[in-house]
Amino acid sequence: MFTSTQNNDFANIVKGRRSVRHYDESIKISREEISEMIAEASLAPSSANMQPWRVVVVDTPEGKEKLRPLVRFNTLQNDTSSAMVLIFGDTESYLYVEEIYNTAVEQGKMPAEVRDRQLETILSMFPTLPKELKVEIAKVDSSLFAMQFMLVARAHGYDTNPMAGFEVDQVARAFDLDEERYAPVMIISIGKAKEEGYETVRLASDKITFWR
Ligand SMILES: Cc1cc2nc3c(=O)[nH]c(=O)nc-3n(C[C@H](O)[C@H](O)[C@H](O)COP(=O)(O)O)c2cc1C
Repeated sequence: MFTSTQNNDFANIVKGRRSVRHYDESIKISREEISEMIAEASLAPSSANMQPWRVVVVDTPEGKEKLRPLVRFNTLQNDTSSAMVLIFGDTESYLYVEEIYNTAVEQGKMPAEVRDRQLETILSMFPTLPKELKVEIAKVDSSLFAMQFMLVARAHGYDTNPMAGFEVDQVARAFDLDEERYAPVMIISIGKAKEEGYETVRLASDKITFWR
C-alpha cells in the first residue's frame, strides 16, 4: 500500500480534485495499481468495521460496451476513462464479520473477549434489520469508501468523476451480481484528464452550519 503515490500534499489533493469528464484515452492504469488504490480507499471507516463496499472495475472494451447504454448522459466518461469503477453496498456484509474480527485478534489488534462480545451484538442484530436499513447503512459506508477512493486517485496522479446518473435498477444484473444483495451506490470514472474539470463554488460554512 502507498507504494505508487505521486502526491502527498493533502491540501493540493483536496483542493485540486475536480470532476473530470474527458480523459486521455492513451492512459491505461494497471489492474495492480487499481487494486492498490482500492486497498488504500478501504482504509475508510465503516459501521462496525463491516466494510460493505464492493467494487466492479470495468476496464475492458467489452465491459465498457455493456456499461455504455446504462450510464445515460455520462458516455464521455465511459468512453475515455481508463476504468469505470462501479461501487455497490453489500447488504449482507455481516457474512464477513467473523473473518474480519478473527483476523484482528490474530494480529493482536483486538482482545479475544472484545471480539466475542462485539460479534455477539453484531450477529444478533444486523441480520434482522429491515432491508431498507441494511441498504442505507451499506450506502453510507460505501460513500465514505468512494470519497476516499477519489482522494487516493488524486494522490496517485489520476482524476475522477463520481456519477449517480446511471440505471440503478440494471447495473448489478448487467455485471452478474445479485441485485437483491448488492445496492448500487455510485460509479466513479478514473483516468488522466484530457480536459481539466471546471471550477465550482461552495456555500460558506456559516450557511451550512448550525451552532447550538
Ligand atoms: C453522488 C454524486 C453524483 C454525481 N453524478 C454525476 C453525474 O451523473 N454526471 C456528472 O457529470 N457529474 C456527476 N457528479 C459530479 C458533480 O456534478 C460534481 O461533484 C459537483 O458539481 C462539484 O464539482 P467537483 O466535483 O468538480 O468539485 C456527481 C457527484 C456526486 C457526489
